[in-house]
Amino acid sequence: MTDLFDIGGRTVVVTGGTRGIGAMVAEGLRDAGARVLVTSRKVDACRAASERLGCPAVPADVSTPEGVAAVLDGVHAEFGGSLDVLVNNAGVTWGAPLDDFPRAGWDRVLGTNVVGLFELTTALLPALRRSAGGGHAARVVNIGSVDGLRVPVFENYSYSAAKAAVHMLTRHLAAVLAQDGVLVNAIAPGAFPSDMTAAALASDSGRTLIENAVPLRRLGTADDIVGAGRYLVSPAGSYVTGVVLPVDGGITGCGT
Ligand SMILES: NC(=O)c1ccc[n+]([C@@H]2O[C@H](COP(=O)([O-])OP(=O)(O)OC[C@H]3O[C@@H](n4cnc5c(N)ncnc54)[C@H](OP(=O)(O)O)[C@@H]3O)[C@@H](O)[C@H]2O)c1
Repeated sequence: MTDLFDIGGRTVVVTGGTRGIGAMVAEGLRDAGARVLVTSRKVDACRAASERLGCPAVPADVSTPEGVAAVLDGVHAEFGGSLDVLVNNAGVTWGAPLDDFPRAGWDRVLGTNVVGLFELTTALLPALRRSAGGGHAARVVNIGSVDGLRVPVFENYSYSAAKAAVHMLTRHLAAVLAQDGVLVNAIAPGAFPSDMTAAALASDSGRTLIENAVPLRRLGTADDIVGAGRYLVSPAGSYVTGVVLPVDGGITGCGT
């Protein structure tokens, strides 16, 4: 059973791995023996994460060609151009009332959550295919959201649309890349404490409102997200591709 979840020595990139859900995944996979590289835009955040996690951290904005090139350089420098696992976690949100929702809220959110995810994945395909040629399937795990599966609580129109796009892109890429031995899946988290959800969870009433909307009546934890991630990137997940796995305490599965 232990071997089924063995990821010792696997090379892993986690975008947005400096805090929140990305940091949970990076730390969990590192603790399981993987060689992890994290990325995010802020130099200071990368430096701090590198010290905390004991892994390389590359400052890179995945929504730009320069940022994508920087991650590619990092993979070549750290892993010699072969990559076993890409976790596309970097993401941003934007909230505004429907009548005032600005164009910038579409450009920024789609540029990072969808275009950045797509362009980084395609740039890293040679490295992923190289890994897949070594005998075990390479993995891409995209972090989607329950907001891409059901109508969200908040007015985050570009975010919910972007996450639905991430889920369909996951299936599309999985279909095309199956022949190359690259498995592509998504995790759709529910409510996890992070900078992204800090404002909504700041007051007791806000937190209670969110927890009460979860059938299991609690927020997600690091173990919840790492457990799902490790399943998808280990031998245990070898026969799984093109799925969107909600990790949401039952929000989607038990919803009406
Ligand atoms: N928290 C939740 O409840 C929840 C629920 C569903 C889905 N999600 C998804 O989970 C993922 C992580 O969210 P989170 O809650 O952990 O948010 P977070 O705490 O705000 O973390 C986001 C991470 O992404 C990085 N990032 C943002 N824009 C980037 C860019 N253009 N290029 C590279 N890195 C970038 C941030 O670092 P820098 O600022 O340094 O770039 C940070 O490391 C997102 O895709 C989010 O949509 C979260």
